[in-house]
Amino acid sequence: AKVAVLVSGKGTNMAALLYAARQPGAAYEIVLVASNDPAAEALALAEAEGVPTFALSHRGMKRADHDAAMDAAIRAAGAEYVALAGYMRILGPDFVAGWEGKMLNIHPSLLPRYPGLDTHARAIAAGDSRAGASVHLVTDDLDMGEVLGRAEVAVIPGDTPDTLAERVKLAEHQLYPRVLAQYVSRPFDPEWLVARVRERAM
Ligand code: GRF
Repeated sequence: AKVAVLVSGKGTNMAALLYAARQPGAAYEIVLVASNDPAAEALALAEAEGVPTFALSHRGMKRADHDAAMDAAIRAAGAEYVALAGYMRILGPDFVAGWEGKMLNIHPSLLPRYPGLDTHARAIAAGDSRAGASVHLVTDDLDMGEVLGRAEVAVIPGDTPDTLAERVKLAEHQLYPRVLAQYVSRPFDPEWLVARVRERAM
């Protein structure tokens, strides 16, 4: 399967997805890395790795226009799936509808706990003994789409949000490539398609 990865930051998950895609027998390939931040570290790495990139700052653009430009670049690259990997823009309803069932995100908490920001600080403040990451389908409800997989890590006494984030990222880098590969390899489900067509007719 052909996958576009959307990034805004460092891109360690993008790197994990890319290096897994280069293993023999991989279920997907990365056809584009796209960003709303032309200075994102993730883009520099993708370029150095010879992966096509697309960058367009969202500054001064309407959300719908920026989404549409990203969408056009992703489709031009021939992507069948979108993997959000630290993409720090909320995607509007048109973009989300256009990739329904085909867009995944990785979130640094054990969803449904802690959707949104500052997940590690919140887990520490709550005294949680386990933290982790979740890969989920993207819907209009932020961080609330169906969870496809989770990875847990221990919280250690003295953890700060940074030390915990680092440990969770190790787990993220194992989780995301595995869940993405599994998802793109799932058997075709005609009932899913029928339900979507019905929804649209309503
Ligand atoms: C990860 O913690 C991911 O869960 C969250 O954003 C962060 C991206 O980190 N959505 P990186 O750019 O992949 O290193």
